[in-house]
Amino acid sequence: MSKNETKDEITITDHRNGKTFTFKLSNGNVKASDLEKIKDSQGNPLRSYDPAYMNTVNCTSSISYIDGDKGILEYRGIPIETLSAKSNFVETAYLLLYGSLPSKNQLSYFNNKLVNHTYIHTDLEKIIKNFRYDAHPMGMLGATISALSTLHPEANPSLRGEKIYKNSPFLNKQIYRLLGTLPTISAYCYRHRIGKPFNQPRNDLGYIENFLYMLDYLNDSKFSSHPVLVKALDILFMLHAEHELNCSTSAVRHLASSGVDVYSCIAGGIFALYGPKHGGANEAVLRMLEEIKTKENIDSYIKDVKAKKRVLFGFGHRVYKSYDPRAKIVKSLADEVFAVLGKEPLIELAVELEKIALTDEYFISKKLYPNVDFYTGVIYKAMGFPTDMFPVLFAIPRTAGWLAHFLEFFNDPENKS
Ligand code: SDX
Repeated sequence: MSKNETKDEITITDHRNGKTFTFKLSNGNVKASDLEKIKDSQGNPLRSYDPAYMNTVNCTSSISYIDGDKGILEYRGIPIETLSAKSNFVETAYLLLYGSLPSKNQLSYFNNKLVNHTYIHTDLEKIIKNFRYDAHPMGMLGATISALSTLHPEANPSLRGEKIYKNSPFLNKQIYRLLGTLPTISAYCYRHRIGKPFNQPRNDLGYIENFLYMLDYLNDSKFSSHPVLVKALDILFMLHAEHELNCSTSAVRHLASSGVDVYSCIAGGIFALYGPKHGGANEAVLRMLEEIKTKENIDSYIKDVKAKKRVLFGFGHRVYKSYDPRAKIVKSLADEVFAVLGKEPLIELAVELEKIALTDEYFISKKLYPNVDFYTGVIYKAMGFPTDMFPVLFAIPRTAGWLAHFLEFFNDPENKS
């Protein structure tokens, strides 16, 4: 070892008894299990204490990479800006799941599989029709996805004591079924709420177009979705597909470690995402803007935020301490959508609120910038989605990221599965 080469090790001195311990670092991190070797006078092992996982890595993952200070987000090494400019959601889902962008044949095979898994069991339609008319769509979605697990016991080989998912033949089938039916189930939750009949999926339409068709078709034989809105939703789905080990993705991995079927894991992810501090923030942003109503009320709201009485929804992030790169793309998308649909009045309020917050020392000092949810809600409102459908529009694409983590979990020898 030459003199200036550093060893990938750390040495800890326990001043309670003068003992020293040297641990090898793994990927530059200390293994929490190594700390157990450090014991107090009663033999109790040392633990790492991190109640909010603020400084805990619970897996090695190559699915995405975030640099919170530089505002970088990459899916499998490809910057999100490149993907949102050149790719589409189905291709991005393949990239996240299988590690590289698909060839033409791989994409057409994958797309056909999704297209042929868009129908849902009529029993699931009955379940959706039995929710109250005003049930929150995220509650309906999560409950219906967990009901999906009862229709496919084969997705739970561990119930038969089998080794799970090591290249199980059922695995891709579950992936196609989940990514194929998520838009259908989401659209049916929406249609149930507005008391309209369900539109059976159309296999001649693309992923996004089919979703918009199932949401909006009534009886206009010339129905088609505006290409600008299809593209906008496709980009928004790409932006929301994956984001390292956030709350809901960690929930999916935790559930996966119990050996439960993938549908139950995804239902768990949906319920974690529902929270207003996480994926429910896009709905909370809209409700905040609707409460503020006019630019004249911004100052008093900001005052309440500084007094810790209110939260500035759509601002701040566990990881990004600079502008969320996704927020920049969403903001530019807003202009394209408004050019087609007319300006959403709340956008002016959002722009003014952002301008004030970005120049206010309170937010600057706490490194609070707009995150992906800040402008997303305004676009969804302009597109005519009811506010409580917004987190559902987050859950559909994030299912691709959750499934990628589900796959990676079982292929990681470090995980006891
Ligand atoms: C998502 O993890 C992901 O990747 C999530 C996500 C994804 O793609 O999966 O990116 C999606 O969930 C985006 C975040 C959506 N949530 C919101 O917009 C809700 C509002 N944001 C806050 O709830 C908050 O910013 C969190 C929960 C997102 C982050 O909270 P942290 O980790 O506590 O933030 P921080 O450590 O940077 O906070 C520093 C200070 C604290 O105050 P002090 O202790 O210094 O007095 O800023 C305060 C915080 O209380 N603060 C806020 C605030 N966010 C942080 N104050 C007012 N409004 C806010 N939005």
